[in-house]
Amino acid sequence: MSADRSEGARHRLAGHLADTGALEPGWRPAFEAVPRHLFLPPVYWEFTDRTAVERDRAADPEGWLAGAYRDTPAITQWDDGDQGAGMRDFTSSLSMPTMVASMLRDLDVQDGHLVHEIGTGPGYNAALLAHRLGPDRVVSVEIDKTVADTARANLTAAGLDGVRVVTGDGAEPTTDEASGRADRLIATCSSLVTDIPTAWLGATRPGGILVAPVATLFGGGAMTRLNVDRDGDGRTAAGHFTGPSDFMRMRQQRYQAPPVDAYLPGEWPGDATASVTGLDPEAIGDSWLAQLAIGTRLPDVYYRRAPYQETVTWWFFDTTVTSWATVDSVPGADEYQVRQSGPRRLWDEIHTTWNTWQHAGAPGYQRFGLTLTRAGRRTVWLDHPDNHWSPPAG
Ligand SMILES: C[S@@+](CC[C@H](N)C(=O)[O-])C[C@H]1O[C@@H](n2cnc3c(N)ncnc32)[C@H](O)[C@@H]1O
Repeated sequence: MSADRSEGARHRLAGHLADTGALEPGWRPAFEAVPRHLFLPPVYWEFTDRTAVERDRAADPEGWLAGAYRDTPAITQWDDGDQGAGMRDFTSSLSMPTMVASMLRDLDVQDGHLVHEIGTGPGYNAALLAHRLGPDRVVSVEIDKTVADTARANLTAAGLDGVRVVTGDGAEPTTDEASGRADRLIATCSSLVTDIPTAWLGATRPGGILVAPVATLFGGGAMTRLNVDRDGDGRTAAGHFTGPSDFMRMRQQRYQAPPVDAYLPGEWPGDATASVTGLDPEAIGDSWLAQLAIGTRLPDVYYRRAPYQETVTWWFFDTTVTSWATVDSVPGADEYQVRQSGPRRLWDEIHTTWNTWQHAGAPGYQRFGLTLTRAGRRTVWLDHPDNHWSPPAG
């Protein structure tokens, strides 16, 4: 495959996205016209089968180009550009095309709309928006200067250099005259449910729509589609989750967990009390949805998995560093050993939340929703905004 033949690849990718139902017909011309490979650096990592596979244009031009038109995310930066640190975390990427298409579908743009994007990355999503609405209808904010500069160059190479790429923190989107107030706001980096930027309400006009991935410390993630209140001058936004999501976190919301000995200075199990449980924590680990249900109800709890031979020890911690718990998952067992320490019985809280979710019929993503207020309240609910799922203070 050569760059000249990318037109065929674009059409095939668009056909695949249409078959999955992610690509709404109004977006098809943009996906067919904008060359995705123009937004990729000479070396990127295609994320496929949970593995980052290097695609090097110099070594394998065919493989490099073919990867650009598969339905896979492409990692373009590790560790905020500190490649020497050993490539631990993805920090910028081109998102998976199915996810890009479904978010644009949820955004429900109309001709003439002004769209603010948070998290420009290499600029592909901004280019699709610019193709559909016109470059002057797109403002995109990127926190990383090198990434923003690259996005500007990529957009120019694609003939779409009228897009306004702002280097800055998208948690405080620009509402200056040059940017205007958005009809639609789309975030392509995730926020913790408890920390979705309230400034997004002020940046979006009443009647507008916000599409944003949300996450929890515990794990799990969802896409939200929030309608900004028409009557209240954009002071509230609410809507259902639309499906799962797994986006890189907004830079300032990354969580640095304290070391284990901050919780347990001596030898395990310390002063912990012992019990047994019938719930295998691996069942939680296997379900992104269960993690979301638990994480939205217990927003200050997180876990770490420690495999040792056949056993996997699950560690649970609170962010205030008062309590911890462990549960040993042994394959084939009916009961699992539990240790809990501190004023909170973290495993009991998790198990109770799991039971509450199960008794509600293990509701899926679309039954959950979120209300965000300008005053800073973020409430996750089940089925109806009055039926709160998140804790009262959340
Ligand atoms: C998944 S990438 C964006 C994907 C991209 N929009 C595309 O076209 O596929 C997420 C980007 O969000 C950026 N980011 C993280 N925190 C941010 C923040 N607070 N404000 C603006 N951008 C942020 C990251 O630097 C990264 O480039």
